[in-house]
Order: sequence, then C-alpha cells, then structure tokens
Amino acid sequence: MGSQTRGPNILITGTPGTGKSTLGAELATRTGFKYVNIGDVAKLNELFDGYDDEYQCPILDEDRVLDELEDQLSAGGNIVDYHSCEFFPERWFDIVFVLRTDNTILYERLEKKGYTGKKLQDNIQCEIFQTILEEARDSYKAEIVHELPSNTPDDMESNLERIVLWMQQWSLANGCAT
Ligand SMILES: Nc1ncnc2c1ncn2[C@@H]1O[C@H](COP(=O)(O)OP(=O)(O)OP(=O)(O)O)[C@@H](O)[C@H]1O
Ligand SMILES: [Mg+2]
Repeated sequence: MGSQTRGPNILITGTPGTGKSTLGAELATRTGFKYVNIGDVAKLNELFDGYDDEYQCPILDEDRVLDELEDQLSAGGNIVDYHSCEFFPERWFDIVFVLRTDNTILYERLEKKGYTGKKLQDNIQCEIFQTILEEARDSYKAEIVHELPSNTPDDMESNLERIVLWMQQWSLANGCAT
C-alpha cells in the first residue's frame, strides 16, 4: 500500500430544510474538508436540463454534475450536500448521513424559506415517509448509512462532534497523516 491514502468523502443528505447546508458548511470550516453543495455546483456551471413547472425548480443534469465532480471526488476530502443520493456512484462515499427533522419544526423552516402549497406538503410527506433514508439504504451499504436528528442547535453540535470523531478514526484506520 502507498502512503498517499486519500481522505474520506462524506455525503450529507435529507429532505429540504433538514439542515444539510448549515451542518455541511460548519463541518468544512472545522475540518478543512471541501464543502460541495450540489445545487450551487449546478448553478455555477449551468448543469441543468429543463425546468420542473410543478416544483418550480430547474432539473439537474445528473450526468454532467457527475462528470464535473469526478476528479475532485476521486481525490477525497469532500463533504457533499444534496437532497437526493441515489444518482451518485456508490464508490464516491465512505459514509452517508441522513438528517431527520420533526414535522412541525420542518414545516416552520420550509415556510420561512418561502415554500407553500404542494411543494411544502410534498416535502413534509417526503420526511414523514422517510423517503431519503430509504433511498440511502437502497443505494449504499447499510453499515455506512446513519440517521442524525437535526431539530435543535444542540443536535447540530453533537452531530458535528460525532462526524469529526468518525473522521479522526477513519484517518487512523486508513493511515492518513492528518
Ligand atoms: N440543527 C438545527 N437546529 C435548528 N435550526 C436548524 C438546524 N439545522 C438547520 N437549521 C435551520 O433550518 C433552516 C434550513 O437549514 P438549511 O438551509 O441548512 O437546510 P438544507 O437541508 O440545506 O435545505 P435545502 O435542501 O433546501 O438546501 C435554516 O434556517 C437553518 O438555520
Ligand atoms: Mg441547502
């Protein structure tokens, strides 16, 4: 084995409004890992393929997003943030965190973001039906998929501590210098 082991890649997923970007950005600040917000990457590089009228949002061109990120993800040391997870290559991620938020809290957060009507209801249902958790379990090995409660600032702090600890253990187990 060479001594140049790459750092792990971490996927943070979950229903819109569960706190992926808040957690992901803070984690990147604390660890020096690269924060990759898939929506921002798509916007910056115009990686869209049409517009979804029902949900009033552009449709991600998944193949072009994957092409755009392949080299960076292969190098490791990334924290990826997106509300879906099944279209990424399984080999990209060493661990997958699925954020979970109670309905009433999520409802208020989405309302604050300006969500209304069907878009608001569908996202609440997505969380109730554990859609993203099941998608993650269908797409990655069960042992690397972890649910994290994301209701309060205390939850966020303990999630940060838990992920940082996991990263330290991963580095020890995989012979990383950092
Ligand atoms: N653990 C938490 N406790 C309290 N508030 C939180 C927590 N996590 C996030 N929030 C708040 O919830 C709102 C939504 O968070 P954020 O934008 O990070 O969610 P998201 O999952 O990235 O959503 P989207 O998928 O729409 O990008 C923000 O106002 C944020 O401050
Ligand atoms: Mg976000």
